[in-house]
Amino acid sequence: MSRSPSLPDRPSLELDPDMPLAEQLAALREHYAEVIRVHEKLEQQLDVAKQRQHSLTKEVDRLERENETLKSSSLYIATAEEMLSDGIVVKQHGNNQEVLTQVSGSLRSKLEAGDRVAINDSFSVQTILDSETDARAQAMEVEESPAVSYDDIGGLSEQIREVREAVEQPLLNAEKFRTIGIEPPSGVLLHGPPGTGKTMLAKAVAKETDATFVKMAGSELVQKFIGEGAKLVRDLFELASEREPCVIFIDEIDAIAAKRTESKTSGDAEVQRTMMQLLSEMDGFEDRGEIRIIAATNRFDMLDRAILRPGRFDRLIEVPEPDDEGRERILEIHTEAMNLAPDVELSALAADTDGFSGAELASLATEAGMFAIRDERTAITMSDFEDALEKVRDDDNAAGKPIAFA
Ligand SMILES: Nc1ncnc2c1ncn2[C@@H]1O[C@H](COP(=O)(O)OP(=O)(O)OP(=O)(O)O)[C@@H](O)[C@H]1O
Ligand SMILES: [Mg+2]
Repeated sequence: MSRSPSLPDRPSLELDPDMPLAEQLAALREHYAEVIRVHEKLEQQLDVAKQRQHSLTKEVDRLERENETLKSSSLYIATAEEMLSDGIVVKQHGNNQEVLTQVSGSLRSKLEAGDRVAINDSFSVQTILDSETDARAQAMEVEESPAVSYDDIGGLSEQIREVREAVEQPLLNAEKFRTIGIEPPSGVLLHGPPGTGKTMLAKAVAKETDATFVKMAGSELVQKFIGEGAKLVRDLFELASEREPCVIFIDEIDAIAAKRTESKTSGDAEVQRTMMQLLSEMDGFEDRGEIRIIAATNRFDMLDRAILRPGRFDRLIEVPEPDDEGRERILEIHTEAMNLAPDVELSALAADTDGFSGAELASLATEAGMFAIRDERTAITMSDFEDALEKVRDDDNAAGKPIAFA
């Protein structure tokens, strides 16, 4: 800490009553001027001090925030179970340990049984968290009837057949499986490059079986609080059983099921626990009724093989980039509602777009339409598609994506 600046000398005045009045007046004037100078100097010093106070306050705020984050990164999630006169009972998520703990007066008045709280290593309650329904709503996407049908998916007839067999049949003919006495596949894993229709497939099967589609991204399951990922998994299956029949779709499953890395950090252990929770929910859901589970990944190579064992994600369906025929069908689907000029040849475009994913073909069609609009034409011509092709390739180049096509 720097010391406060030294104060200016206090001006003093001693008047000699024997002095002529004119001289006394002059001395008074001199003194007055001195007082003004000192006053100005003090004001300047006050300004400097105020500025310093301001920057110190900011520094304190920053440190407080930092301290908060440091503290919160080691908090655990629990539910307040019971409010007692000498404390509260909290149940820690993840291991379900119940403890009697203390809570500060100000928090106590706001806390109700059933609230979600964050507790520290010694179980004392630090904060009250948002209600669970909020967390659920944030992390999950629920669609009663997704707007995708099998007909909207191009070039994946084999994959559609497999998904129908593994997901649709067990949902629609559960009885048949029971009569024959076989267990339908537990989980289906769709794997393949981005934008090839994995999400579409999962939505379509939900739609065609009149099932609710519940989607959760694996990355959402990687939570900063210990035990929270596992809790979200439990919530996911609970929500699904409330909405039966239901298709649970876990996108980016690699986020929680990647091969274990060398580092043994607590973050890893937490992700591991979330995955174990998912597997145990899957084990239990045979008896729970009409829930099917589909997961997707672009990083099949990264997956921990443990999740592919029988009874887990034991039906693997590869969703590749479309071949020539697939690309033509996808272009047909995405230009269906477009006003195409007679010179447009989708088969030629399909031949020219080797390596394009379904998503890239969809954006190609949109871009072509944009070129026609810019030219104020009502029909889209082959040259619009050629311009669009060039643009999409340039965009990909700019994005640093290696392009697989000629
Ligand atoms: N086979 C396909 N047929 C028709 N359209 C497709 C196809 N594949 C992708 N698309 C288009 O691309 C969009 C994205 O597809 P989707 O979300 O299903 O890809 P994804 O495989 O789930 O990708 P990611 O791995 O990046 O999640 C779709 O909304 C659709 O417009
Ligand atoms: Mg997807």
